[in-house]
Amino acid sequence: MTVLTINGKQHQIDLPEDTPILWTLRDQLGMTGTKFGCGMALCGACTVHLDGEPIRSCVTPISAAVNKKITTIEAVEQDHIGKAVQDAWMALGVPQCGYCQSGQIMSATALLKKVPKPDDKQIMDAMSGNICRCGTYTRIHAAIKQASTTLAGSAGKAPAPAAKAKGEVK
Ligand code: FES
Ligand code: FES
Repeated sequence: MTVLTINGKQHQIDLPEDTPILWTLRDQLGMTGTKFGCGMALCGACTVHLDGEPIRSCVTPISAAVNKKITTIEAVEQDHIGKAVQDAWMALGVPQCGYCQSGQIMSATALLKKVPKPDDKQIMDAMSGNICRCGTYTRIHAAIKQASTTLAGSAGKAPAPAAKAKGEVK
């Protein structure tokens, strides 16, 4: 039995410890916001945060997440930076088919947590592992800049109450 902390809740997982986090999220817990693209750490569709770091959940076993915190797209808006990123995504109409976008948002949020005002190269470097077959790269780049600007403008103000997570699994 493996105990995983996902979006602030503990889950008892009765799967082999080498099971990828992605399959655990999608097939065991029904959290389908995180997507399967390549299964080989090549596309970024499966990106989640492990203790705040963006990781490819398709190649990361659940054993690597013991005593750590997993955050998925279902809870990213509970964080003010993740919320700003999602708001910018919606304001600029970033998604096309949408399949890659949860991974894009997770990578963008991780970037802005580390680098509040990333320059163009920092954005391209941080997002280079997230592939979009629809070619929404220009809007992704602009949305990251917009989220950064929004966050800079709200710095020092009291944070809004955390919104309830969508798709929360009990
Ligand atoms: S599905 Fe994990 S990187 Fe493509
Ligand atoms: S929006 Fe379609 S793959 Fe990125």
